[in-house]
Amino acid sequence: MPSFSRVAALLPALFSSIAYAVQPVEIRGQDFINTATDKRVMIIGVDYQPGGQGAYNPTNSEDPLTDGDKCLRDATLMQKLGVNTIRVYNLDPTLDHSKCASIFNAAGIYMILDVNSPLPGESINRAEPWTSYNSDYLTRAFGIIENFKGFPNTMAFFSANEVMNDLSTAEFNPQYIRAVQRDMKNYIKNHADRTIPVGYSAADVREILHDTWAYMQCIHDEDESSSDFFGLNSYSWCNGDNYQTSTYDGLATMFADSAVPVFFSEYGCNRVMPRDFDEVQALYGDQMRALSGGLVYEYSHEEANYGLVEIDQDGSVALMKDYDNLQSQFNKLDLSALEATNPQSTELKAPECDGSLITAEQFSKNFTIPAVCPGCQDLIDNGIENPTNGALVDIGDTNVKQKVTGSNGQQINDLSLNVVSNDGSNTPGGENTSPSGTDSGNNDNPSQTGDAAQPSETEGAASHMSFNFGLAMMGVFVYMLTL
Ligand SMILES: *[C@@H]1O[C@H](CO)[C@@H](O)[C@H](O)[C@H]1NC(C)=O
Repeated sequence: MPSFSRVAALLPALFSSIAYAVQPVEIRGQDFINTATDKRVMIIGVDYQPGGQGAYNPTNSEDPLTDGDKCLRDATLMQKLGVNTIRVYNLDPTLDHSKCASIFNAAGIYMILDVNSPLPGESINRAEPWTSYNSDYLTRAFGIIENFKGFPNTMAFFSANEVMNDLSTAEFNPQYIRAVQRDMKNYIKNHADRTIPVGYSAADVREILHDTWAYMQCIHDEDESSSDFFGLNSYSWCNGDNYQTSTYDGLATMFADSAVPVFFSEYGCNRVMPRDFDEVQALYGDQMRALSGGLVYEYSHEEANYGLVEIDQDGSVALMKDYDNLQSQFNKLDLSALEATNPQSTELKAPECDGSLITAEQFSKNFTIPAVCPGCQDLIDNGIENPTNGALVDIGDTNVKQKVTGSNGQQINDLSLNVVSNDGSNTPGGENTSPSGTDSGNNDNPSQTGDAAQPSETEGAASHMSFNFGLAMMGVFVYMLTL
């Protein structure tokens, strides 16, 4: 039972029917941990950037998390897919993302957010990183922190993405990535009411991969610049590969003793399509349990041909075969095994930074992090001017308005978001969302798939409602007592 004070604290939320689905995560050793349940949070994720890079359009005041109707559609489809985390790349720190963030929260889906964008001055310039490390750039990065720090489902921030892609870019960039991380972590410490992890998303370039991880996680003079976690964009498993041919075995060995969580921030090779996603069983299997899962690239089909769904101009969505295949892989996961914490996890400690950690001659061995840029300490201490701060809001109607069709072209009717109950994040539900065969009625019935082992979504929704109703009645009672 919730304590009296907890109930009282929830009162305003109850009366405006804001859902508190997701509990913040924190990092313990190699694991992300749900702070309310103490269980491990394994990332079952999808990268989300519908519209591609062009979706972030400051002129039109748009980015992927500004349109509530679209977010509701996509959160519903990702919820059914079994996803518990999205990564969003390019966001506008001045826009209001409250509706979309609240929808994903209600869906039980965490958000990992990049603070950068491809526009000039909005990311580290890998050719001359010192030219891009300045107060304008940091104001943008801090703006993303301000914008998202208030949401319980903000899981983490990426300080940078694939800045290094070969040995020559590994000479000066590592120090600047750590400088940005130091500044972001200090900003969060000063201006957020909880810790939010900050880390780097690396390209899978094997000649620099080990050194990048070693450089990012090591501890230097308590200067806060280390990565709290390490993301890897890995496409090395294509259809037909196995644990060895994909070189996943090498990755498992490399990261077995990582002192920080490691996960795939992108995966899903598309050399053969549709993708069968057999790598899901390896990534979440015993041999790779040191890793914290991953995010499939990517939700929507864009120019690069990595989609799980096609989004039409009119907003209608067609599930692709890749969606079905990924869903059936997620449905096979052993969820209770994934929630167990790594026994060795908290014993692992990152080493002190030292040149001996670095194997490649050209890779930076300079661990002296650049001094805070001119004018930047003031931002870190006092905060940026006029930040846009998001907060949970009522998500309103949970029915999907757009037309959605399965991979065989049949329409899926009556789609709606299932509001996940307190402390919960979303889990694979055992259903096949695409209608199977040629049956045109009864589209969304899980019993057709022969997989009856999972609890139905309606049950979850019903128990959530009665829980909320109970709390509301207690709330009314407490309210009356205070009169
Ligand atoms: C190491 O980097 C710092 C700046 O971060 C710089 O001042 C110093 O000269 C560098 N040391 C060497 C040996 O290059």
